Formats: sequence, C-alpha cells, structure tokens
Amino acid sequence: MLEADLCGLELDNPFVLASGVLGSTGASLKRMAGLGAGAVVTKSLGLEPREGHDGPNVCEVEGGLLNAMGLPNPGVAAFEEEVSAARYGGVPVIVSVFASKRDGFAEAATRAEAIGGDGVELNLSCPHAEGYGAAVGSDPGLVEEIVSAVSSKVDVPVFAKLTPNVPDIAEIGVAAERGGADGLVAVNTLGPGMVIDVDLERPVLGNERGGVSGPSLHPVAVRCVYDLYDSVEVPVVGVGGVRDAETSLEMFLAGASAVQVGTAVMDGTDVFGKIRDGVLEHLEEAGYGGLGELRGAAHG
Ligand SMILES: Cc1cc2nc3c(=O)[nH]c(=O)nc-3n(C[C@H](O)[C@H](O)[C@H](O)COP(=O)(O)O)c2cc1C
Repeated sequence: MLEADLCGLELDNPFVLASGVLGSTGASLKRMAGLGAGAVVTKSLGLEPREGHDGPNVCEVEGGLLNAMGLPNPGVAAFEEEVSAARYGGVPVIVSVFASKRDGFAEAATRAEAIGGDGVELNLSCPHAEGYGAAVGSDPGLVEEIVSAVSSKVDVPVFAKLTPNVPDIAEIGVAAERGGADGLVAVNTLGPGMVIDVDLERPVLGNERGGVSGPSLHPVAVRCVYDLYDSVEVPVVGVGGVRDAETSLEMFLAGASAVQVGTAVMDGTDVFGKIRDGVLEHLEEAGYGGLGELRGAAHG
C-alpha cells in the first residue's frame, strides 16, 4: 500500500531520511534504513574536504532548530566506503552534492554516481554557506544550467533540492525541470535566521546566521510543495517539519510523491515506524487503496 516508484527508484515506503541528519556515516545511514526509512540521503558532499563553520553549529528554537553547519564533509570521493556500508541497509542511497558552479556540480554528481549512489540530490539551497546552495539556487538561469549539466552526465535519477527563500519557488522548480531534473525536493531550511544569547549579548551560532528547520518550517514547506505541484510534471518530495502521520499526509495532499524527515529524527529514531503506521491507519480508515489516490487532493 505504501510502495512507491520515485523517479525509477523502488521504495518500500515513501518516507526518506533527509540530508544532513544522521547521514555522515554509512553505519548511521544503514541504521536509519533498518529503522524504517524507505530511502536515505547522505550529508551533502563537495569535491574537496571541507571543515564547515565554527561552532556552535546548532541550537534549539521554539518549534525546531537553527543550524549553520557550513557543509562540513570529507569530499565525495572519500565517501565511497560509507555508501557501500549504507547499501547494506537494503534501501536506495541518494548522494547529496554541492558545488559553487555548474562544472563543479557536474563533476561531484559524476563521482556520486561512481561511488554507488542510486540517485543524486543537488543541494541548490543551503542558506548559510556563502557562494553555495541558495546563492546559486535562487537564480532560475543558473539552476537550469546546473541541472542540465548534471543530467547530461549521470544516468541515475537527479533531484534538485530547492530553497524556500525565494519569492516564487515555482519559477525555480520549472527551471530545474527544464534542465532535466527527474524530481524536485522542497525544501531546505528557511532563513537565514538568528538567535541571540541575552547573557553573552552575542548571536548563539558561531556563524551568527543559520537555517530554521522543524515544525516552524512546516507550513512554508507545505505551501512550497503545493505551488510546485501546480507548476511541474516531475515528482515533488516534501521536506520541512514532517514529524508524524498528519504532517506527512499534509505533504501528500499538497502533491508530494514522497516525504523526507530531518529534524524529527533527533527527537526519536522510531519516527519512520510511527509515520508509516499512522499513514496506513489513515488510508485504511478513509478507504484509500494507496497514497496515489490522495496525492494532490488539497488542490480540489
Ligand atoms: C543539522 C542539519 C544539517 C543539515 N544538513 C544538510 C545538508 O548537508 N544538505 C542539505 O541539502 N540539507 C541539509 N539540511 C536540511 C534538511 O535536509 C532539511 O531540508 C531541512 O532541515 C528541513 O527538514 P526538517 O524540518 O525535517 O529538518 C540540514 C538540516 C539540519 C537540521
């Protein structure tokens, strides 16, 4: 009832581990698969190793988290063993990559495929790494160029992960689709935002600014999925504040073909099981034969 074909990836269920949360090692990715994730996405990887921002990198806010990791990673080529280990989880492993320019994205995505990625997710959306992420993902021309360069180089499905920090996400989604994206992922964190420590009289994060995730992002993410569903033909993966059956179902009703879960994994690793059981119960009670029957229903 929950099986899904996501751009050619066969998933037992459409509840996917989001990039950057317990995705830095093969062991943790495999563990999340064992705990019920239908697919897993690695931490974003670049061509070269990168240290990321000074800490603190994460702090709690009302209704979620503020983070500014700064894309720390060992480089995509060095992640081969981790991908091999993650594959023992028995679910598709999607490798997330970032770069600052078109050719860097194409090279990183080629390596991601070479190290065993079943799919590639392009991080066009990190709001707190200068020159990367949202800096490129807010420009429809650049997005189309990058996605097109990647799509012509790799055979695995290509997902473009979008930022909510733009006036019109549909415009960016359409550009990614024109570039050849097989699917869109909406959204990365919202912001940048800031938390100030009133005793220290300084911003809490080492980077001062960070991206908001978790429940407070959810209504924005649902609206982004809703807007994209109206504008593109390719599948949309909803991410942002998904934490239970209800928040997942909202995403499917907005038009999502799958959802990703990030921040909620930190509240308890049984989240995938909880979501699956709750969604199944809802489908049965409502008399649906599968999620496809309610996808996009909120559009009337
Ligand atoms: C600590 C942390 C690290 C993250 N790292 C990445 C990353 O490396 N690449 C990426 O595309 N998104 C990253 N994200 C964003 C998440 O994948 C997700 O898009 C966002 O947090 C919204 O989903 P959530 O509310 O379920 O967490 C990160 C989020 C958090 C909280």
